[in-house]
Amino acid sequence: MENKKYKILFVCLGNICRSPSAHGIMESLIDKNNLSDHFLIDSAGTYAGHSGELPDSRMRAHASKRGYKLTHRSRPVSSQDFEEFDMIIAMDDSNYNNLKRLAPDLESEAKIYRMMDYSQSLDYDHVPDPYYSGAEGFEIVLDLLEDACGNLLKELREDLEI
Ligand code: 4NP
Repeated sequence: MENKKYKILFVCLGNICRSPSAHGIMESLIDKNNLSDHFLIDSAGTYAGHSGELPDSRMRAHASKRGYKLTHRSRPVSSQDFEEFDMIIAMDDSNYNNLKRLAPDLESEAKIYRMMDYSQSLDYDHVPDPYYSGAEGFEIVLDLLEDACGNLLKELREDLEI
């Protein structure tokens, strides 16, 4: 079953704020819809400096208030990810451009998407980095990701007919 799962990798810079949140929100949505047999979700960063760390404590606290327990350990994107995953979804244009540069071939490049292409937000065209923001920045990240993950799952269920 593992090989037949549709695999999604969420990517940001440090893999301690935005992408582990997208990871947790998407897994929670998939669990709630009893679709765990159909999807495998992971996250990674384009910067390796936080490797092995849990998500930022502020991000975990805000996510926890909405019922998401973030337990992923930060890891950098690897060349194998481009083979293994069906979709690689970037949080902002910097992540997107870095992924495009890292992609080993055209087939891999075609797997790279922008998270905010799935959002209805009129105010943001990227998921803003909350690292140097106050509490509101973390809440905005969660608002945008809940919206985008919901739309992404809806679209995939239609495409994959599940
Ligand atoms: P993330 O946030 O990319 O959403 O995980 C950041 C985490 C760490 C840093 C920047 C952004 N940093 O500069 O260390």
